[in-house]
Amino acid sequence: MIQTQILHEAPFSPHRLNKYASLHACGNGRIGIRGCHEEAYTDQQRGMFVAGFYHRANATEVTELVNLPDITGMRIELDGESLSLLSGTLVSYQRELRTMNGELYRELVWQSPAGQRFRIETRRFVALSPLALVACRLTVTALDAAAHLGVSTGIDATQTNSGRQHLNERSVRVFDQNVLQGGYDTTDGQQQAMITSQCRIPSGASSSFSAKNRRLLQHISLPLPAGEAVTLEKFSWIATSLDADFLPESDWSSRCLASLSACAQQGYGHLLMENTRHWQHYWQDSRVCVTSDHPQDQRALDFALYHLKLMIPAHDARASVAAKGLTGEGYKGHVFWDTEIFILPFALLNAPEQARKLLEYRYLNLTQAQEKARRSGYQGALFPWECAFSGEEETPEFAAINIRTGQRQRVASAMAEHHLVADIAYATVGYFQATHDREFMQQMGLALLKETALFWMSRAQRRGDRLDILNVIGPDEYTEHVDNNAFTNYMAHDNVQAACRYLRECDQQDAAFLAQAEDFLAHLYLPQPDEQGVIAQDDTFFSKPQCDLTAYKSQQGTQAILLDYSRAEINEMQVLKQADVVMLMHLLPEKFTSGCLSANLAFYEPRTIHDSSLSKSVHGIVAARSGQTAQALQFYREACRIDLGEEPHSSDDGIHAAATAAIWLGAVTGFAGLTYQSGELHFRPSLPPGWSRLQFPVRWRGACLTVCLEPQQFILSKTDAQPLTVRINGTAHTFTESLVLKGTHDEN
Ligand code: BGC
Repeated sequence: MIQTQILHEAPFSPHRLNKYASLHACGNGRIGIRGCHEEAYTDQQRGMFVAGFYHRANATEVTELVNLPDITGMRIELDGESLSLLSGTLVSYQRELRTMNGELYRELVWQSPAGQRFRIETRRFVALSPLALVACRLTVTALDAAAHLGVSTGIDATQTNSGRQHLNERSVRVFDQNVLQGGYDTTDGQQQAMITSQCRIPSGASSSFSAKNRRLLQHISLPLPAGEAVTLEKFSWIATSLDADFLPESDWSSRCLASLSACAQQGYGHLLMENTRHWQHYWQDSRVCVTSDHPQDQRALDFALYHLKLMIPAHDARASVAAKGLTGEGYKGHVFWDTEIFILPFALLNAPEQARKLLEYRYLNLTQAQEKARRSGYQGALFPWECAFSGEEETPEFAAINIRTGQRQRVASAMAEHHLVADIAYATVGYFQATHDREFMQQMGLALLKETALFWMSRAQRRGDRLDILNVIGPDEYTEHVDNNAFTNYMAHDNVQAACRYLRECDQQDAAFLAQAEDFLAHLYLPQPDEQGVIAQDDTFFSKPQCDLTAYKSQQGTQAILLDYSRAEINEMQVLKQADVVMLMHLLPEKFTSGCLSANLAFYEPRTIHDSSLSKSVHGIVAARSGQTAQALQFYREACRIDLGEEPHSSDDGIHAAATAAIWLGAVTGFAGLTYQSGELHFRPSLPPGWSRLQFPVRWRGACLTVCLEPQQFILSKTDAQPLTVRINGTAHTFTESLVLKGTHDEN
């Protein structure tokens, strides 16, 4: 059994309810359930989401991932007193997320206001298989004297997305005095959800049912003998019209009842054993192990891999990864470049078929992207900056009101943050490099590469002898509407180059396209490093004044600068929200020297607030690649604290999916220096101080490799006997089963 690190919450704090609801979420890539307590608290935001299940409440709102009816809530009454950790006395408390098997576990002793002590244990998990199953268990022991237990639980459709109502109750029923079932339609009638729940209650318990005000509940009542543990189990089956086996109403209802009953019969303990087996396979296949002087490093990696499993919808290419995974309402569940650039590499090097699905998601939305390009006056495909299910642009028109100016700030990303187009092409190339999946290339990859390339070719404008890309927003969203954002130009160049290469390789010569592309490649302006090795973020960046960011950096992630300056003012200063040129160095490191990486890091970092969670980790990776391992480790650990740090509200709306994936990225592409974009597997090992070992698996073109870094040696091993060539610090090495190299670390 692989004992991954447990994520504890102790002591209980009402201020951290929502942070831990996100961190302690359970899920399986299809369903995500926030780690809320069974009992209600005013500020606690419950949440259950199904990947791809989006809806728009009304014309004034944007499409969002629907917060489905709640199934984990329980009103627990002990001798007539409602369990609440805010009343009575909390004698002991422990809550932990068991990443090794996906179970959220809580154990506490509560003394009711009347003075009676009860031991309460709650447990739950979302099954990795079947993907529709959720299991919960409540165990109560009256510690002082016999008492009475009342539990009300069921399906609570009063749940909304912070007040936005997405579902109509279509049907509620109780079958066989035992099973509850609620059928719900999105208010536009387009989608359905069917939730079926059933409790296993001890003999001697009585129960009744009610359906009122969108709550379908079972009320269980039973005696609690002194000192005897009493257990109640609840199983739920979550089905939606997105499911492959979705059926017309009555058949669907009975199918759900039968599926749930088959699982419920097995009981919580058995189902948990099965779940443990599935999670253990995952950990065996993917875990990153670090030996470090800081135990938090392994904890962060286990946390990241746990949540990566929860966020990637491996079962359905019509869904992708939301910016908060399935752990909260933040960013409305929309899909950003976060997926291709931060999350997809993990899938690619661990379960390439999942990376393929993430790309297929874009391919399935190619027509809408072509239409967006057309509407914006371009050719090819302009993918929406924020995407949900329909493939249409979902970016809200306005952000929150700036309380300094009183103005509603227009969100310009949908109009000008076009680098996503090249990011998708970049991920397409990476996927092909790592898999040589020719069928994918023929069916989807070439179309993605060509349409994205066509976009750039029509997007660039000729000015004199050169092609410029005008009026864009690069990754740094504090700098809007600039010309020749270096990140965008280089990535666009890479995009068009890849399209030419693969069209030629796949014998899909299109003479007109290739001629235009060659012209684009020859003339597109690629800003070069100046004498100090620094690349200008855009045409005007160097001419803007620098600003003292000390105060804002100390509150990074909060966008505090927007309280002192308007967006327009920030635009005229050298202030970065997040890595931009440094991001470019991360994605295309082979295009720049190690000196150039260091120079840009040194220049841009003091100008970067890291107000986006996508920033710090990337600085860490680039620092590691340029040999500055101590600094890299500092960035890395700070990035790990985005969700795992002490700040009580850092993750209220959900975990930061890209930042979570970047914990894996930092270890693998940062400290092991792994890259694959050029078509070969490269390593540039630079184990940071305090780390004596880093080991992780990599799937590469069908081979299963184990990579192991130690201070004085680098070891690669694999299970098959096919020769494989890799580059380590630039030198090619061919091996069959294993390769051991001494003294491989960068010593800058
Ligand atoms: C960042 C974007 C990111 C988005 C979703 C924004 O704050 O600036 O780069 O894609 O959050 O994570």
